[in-house]
Amino acid sequence: MLVLSGVSYRYAGYARPVLHDIDLRLADGEIVGVVGANESGKSTLCLVASGLAPGSIGGALTGGGLSIDGEAMADKPLHEFSTRVGIGFQNPATQLSGVTGSVFEEVALGPMNLGLTQPETVERTKAALATLGIDELWDREPRRLSGGQGQLVVIASLLAMRPPHLVLDEPTAQLDPEGTRLVGEALRKLAASGTAMLIAEHKTDLLDDLCHRVIALDDGRIAFDGPAGTVLEDERLVALGVDLPSRVRVASALVSRGLDPAAVLA
Ligand SMILES: Nc1ncnc2c1ncn2[C@@H]1O[C@H](COP(=O)(O)OP(=O)(O)O)[C@@H](O)[C@H]1O
Ligand SMILES: [Mg+2]
Repeated sequence: MLVLSGVSYRYAGYARPVLHDIDLRLADGEIVGVVGANESGKSTLCLVASGLAPGSIGGALTGGGLSIDGEAMADKPLHEFSTRVGIGFQNPATQLSGVTGSVFEEVALGPMNLGLTQPETVERTKAALATLGIDELWDREPRRLSGGQGQLVVIASLLAMRPPHLVLDEPTAQLDPEGTRLVGEALRKLAASGTAMLIAEHKTDLLDDLCHRVIALDDGRIAFDGPAGTVLEDERLVALGVDLPSRVRVASALVSRGLDPAAVLA
C-alpha cells in the first residue's frame, strides 16, 4: 500500500507549491486513475508518488509525506524506492536505457539488475513481451523503434520487474487503439496479481474500463475522488478540461434528444 497524506510539493527554485494537500491511498491491487487539464499536476503527482520528487529531481515537500507499506519514506535513499515503485514516463525515448542492442536485452535489464537468475530473467522477459503482444520485436534495436513500440517496450520493462506499485504517466499517449487495448489488458492482469497502480491518462474510456477509483486534479488540488464510474460520469469534469468517456457522452446526447439511454442502448 502506498499512501500520500496531505502532500504539498514545490519544484526547486519556485516558492509556490504545484501540488496542494494531496491525500491518496493505493491499496494492493487497486488501480487509481488521475485526470485533469494540462498543467494540473498529473505528472508532478506521478513523480512525487514514485519518490523521484523530491528524491531525485529536488524541490521539497512543503507538507505531508509518503509512506509505503506502512513505512515513512522521507529521506530514504532512492534505491529504497526503486524496488517498491516502478515508474513509466510519458515519453519512452527518455526511458530506454540506451545501452542495449535489442528489445529482449532492454526488457531483461530490469530483472537482471534485481539480481534474478538467468532462467528467471528470461522467463519474465518473455512473459512481459508476450503480454504486450510485442514478442516479434525481440531482436529489434530499441533506438529504432516507433514511439508506440518504444512505449510498449518501456511498459514491458516495468512489468518484468514486477514492482508492487506502479506509477504510469500517460502510458498510452503514443499508442493506437490496439496498443491501448493491450496495455489495458496487461495492467488489469497485473492488478489482479496484487500490483497497485496510479495511472495519469487523458483516455477516459481506458480509465473507465480499468480503474477502481479516479481522482481529478484542478490546479494541483484534488477536486474529485471516488469510484471510477461515478467520477467519470460527472459533467463538471468537462470544465476541468477532461473528456468524459464515450458511454457517458452517448448517454447524455440521447437524453438531450429526449431519448431514454436505457431503452436505446439495451
Ligand atoms: N520541472 C519543473 N519545474 C518547475 N515547474 C514545473 C516543472 N514541471 C512542471 N512544472 C509546473 O507544475 C505544474 C504542473 O505541471 P505537470 O505536473 O506537468 O501537469 P500535467 O502533467 O497535468 O500537465 C505546472 O504549472 C507546470 O508548469
Ligand atoms: Mg503530464
